[in-house]
Amino acid sequence: MTSTESAVRRGRFIAFEGGDGSGKSTQAARLAAALDAVLTREPGGTAIGSKIRELVLDPQYLNMTNRTEALLMAAARAQHVDELILPQLLAGRDVVSDRFVASSLAYQGVGRNLGIDVVAELNEFATNGLKPDLTVLLDADPTTARARLGDDLDRIEEAGIQLGRQVVDTYRSLAASAPDRWVIVDANGDIDTVAARVHLVVSDRLQAL
Ligand code: TYD
Repeated sequence: MTSTESAVRRGRFIAFEGGDGSGKSTQAARLAAALDAVLTREPGGTAIGSKIRELVLDPQYLNMTNRTEALLMAAARAQHVDELILPQLLAGRDVVSDRFVASSLAYQGVGRNLGIDVVAELNEFATNGLKPDLTVLLDADPTTARARLGDDLDRIEEAGIQLGRQVVDTYRSLAASAPDRWVIVDANGDIDTVAARVHLVVSDRLQAL
């Protein structure tokens, strides 16, 4: 076997983003199943990341500062990249992540007012520069999103009800600034309808990768 034949084709890395209640966890799972990809999520994805998730989303820690929140998200992400995402991509598996760096840009950078640039820099370090090949932004109108969210809110979702508009606007401008790496999908409608929209547009984009 030649070295070319033995080289494994790197997997594709797809992230899902959206405001709280956009339905992205359901849609990320549907797409991962359709592509036979590894499904993961942030904050979380590893044992260390899951511990950080418990800590950072626990509604009892009302005194957590915004910088602490941003650092914990980045720490969970660093572990996620090193332990799971990159090894899977290098082994040739596609990876679908429910949230990635753009969540921190939107929630911590803008929602928490830390500034997009500083949060981007922190995450450059956390990810070692790894970027999704494609990010799917699920765009649901606020009434749909609020209805899907229910009443059992985590610490950030509680704040997110006020921050929602800013988060959605930030996602839209990130998508507009990198159209080759983002796709916006209308997230209003039932699960099967949205899943079909996602599948169609992602398959189309992945052919170009
Ligand atoms: P998630 O589990 O995706 O919640 P949901 O599926 O209900 O949208 O994310 C949990 C919360 O964490 C959510 O309110 C968004 C927030 N979050 C950040 O603020 N920054 C981040 O970098 C990430 C990954 C999530």
